[in-house]
Amino acid sequence: MLKGLSLIEPEDITIEDMENLFLLAEKIEKDEKYLRDSCWGKLMATLFFEPSTRTRLSFEAAMLRLGGNCLGFADPLSSSASKGESLADTIRMAASYADIIVMRNPKEGAALLASRYSSVPVINAGDGGHHHPTQTLTDLLTIKRLSGRINNLTVGFCGDLKFGRTVHSLAKALARYKNINMIFISPDELILPEYIKNNLKKQNVQFSERRNFDEAIPELDVLYMTRVQRERFFNEEDYIRLKDTYVLNMERIKTGKDSLIVLHPLPRVNEISVDVDADPRAAYFKQAKYGMYVRMALLSSILGVN
Ligand code: CP
Repeated sequence: MLKGLSLIEPEDITIEDMENLFLLAEKIEKDEKYLRDSCWGKLMATLFFEPSTRTRLSFEAAMLRLGGNCLGFADPLSSSASKGESLADTIRMAASYADIIVMRNPKEGAALLASRYSSVPVINAGDGGHHHPTQTLTDLLTIKRLSGRINNLTVGFCGDLKFGRTVHSLAKALARYKNINMIFISPDELILPEYIKNNLKKQNVQFSERRNFDEAIPELDVLYMTRVQRERFFNEEDYIRLKDTYVLNMERIKTGKDSLIVLHPLPRVNEISVDVDADPRAAYFKQAKYGMYVRMALLSSILGVN
């Protein structure tokens, strides 16, 4: 069903297709020979106009593990975009060299635009403060693996909910599951955009907005921490004032349920203190690893080789 698909927003994939990807990712994780070499002869272009560690490396690791190859750039200054080439022309070129394009771009809507100029599937690896659908696949797979379900959960999102694209994508995706209660914890200046809240209202999803982190923690099954997105602020003063509003430390995590799952798309700055890493509820490094398996499942499905 996913063959030839461009993945721009989480809603481009049905829940059934997501569940199939999770099953496939689990098979790949359990048997490292499964689908090995299935992408032999296929090329993936990674066009990263913004910095990345996990998304780019996990996509490249995924393609190499499937037996395919990768080309691309990690810095737009090394591409002809720095000479003024348009995104449309860059995409036309990449599509004539590769079988699939994975792109991150600072502009909201860039991935959708790219998909309109591309003759091969485009995967959105983050478009500004808009969406990051493969991070959502990673997040949902982690929740499913660690809690055994994606239904009947209270999920807290904490930090920069205005610019945090991973929050926008995950909230949209979770809205399609049953009995999800979302608690959005942020400073006034970094609340969730209206268009996401309006979507949740239309879908009758239960949600609340809070300022008090300490009061929310004991209610949560999943806590999704996020970094304040310095690169999207208009002035440094505001960033400095807001960046450490919420910090998950040992004292706070002690008030959480024993079954709490703490996620973070990473990179982390100060919002989770490093001593929390040793707590069994801290799942963010596992989450990053699951990202590679789910991207293997996604690439092999879009390329139609599984
Ligand atoms: N989670 C995530 O998108 O990480 P990177 O910015 O390192 O790719």
